Amino acid sequence: MILPIITYPNEILRQKAKKIKEPKSREIKDLILDMIATMEESGNALGLAAPQVGQSVQLCIIKLDGKTHILINPKIARKSWGKEICEEGCLSFPGKFIPVKRHKKVTVKALDKKGEKIEIKAEGLLSRALQHEIDHLNGMLFIDKK
Ligand code: NI
Repeated sequence: MILPIITYPNEILRQKAKKIKEPKSREIKDLILDMIATMEESGNALGLAAPQVGQSVQLCIIKLDGKTHILINPKIARKSWGKEICEEGCLSFPGKFIPVKRHKKVTVKALDKKGEKIEIKAEGLLSRALQHEIDHLNGMLFIDKK
């Protein structure tokens, strides 16, 4: 099911999303499928966080280089000192693209869709997307980062 995208300044985008206690529940499985369908419908979006479809839970999806990363309760475990600036967009800000400074590299710990622990070491665009989506789960938006 294609879900409507919540746009700024809806206050759900500013809430800290709730931790998911049952990653393998039917509810979460359905939300993951709906979020993937919604991203495909939206064209070239790199990532989507659950609050952007009105669900204030710790779940985000990143699609990059043909791979779909599903992250439940993600946390940044390590980040590089080095930062870099790159232009970003966000589905909750249609048509807005601004330069954002982010850590070059991050290591993220999360659960996958099976509820198994995963760790992703990322740089470049994946690192940037992870930071952008995890910010969403903490009520932070890319306009805060200027
Ligand atoms: Ni976004």
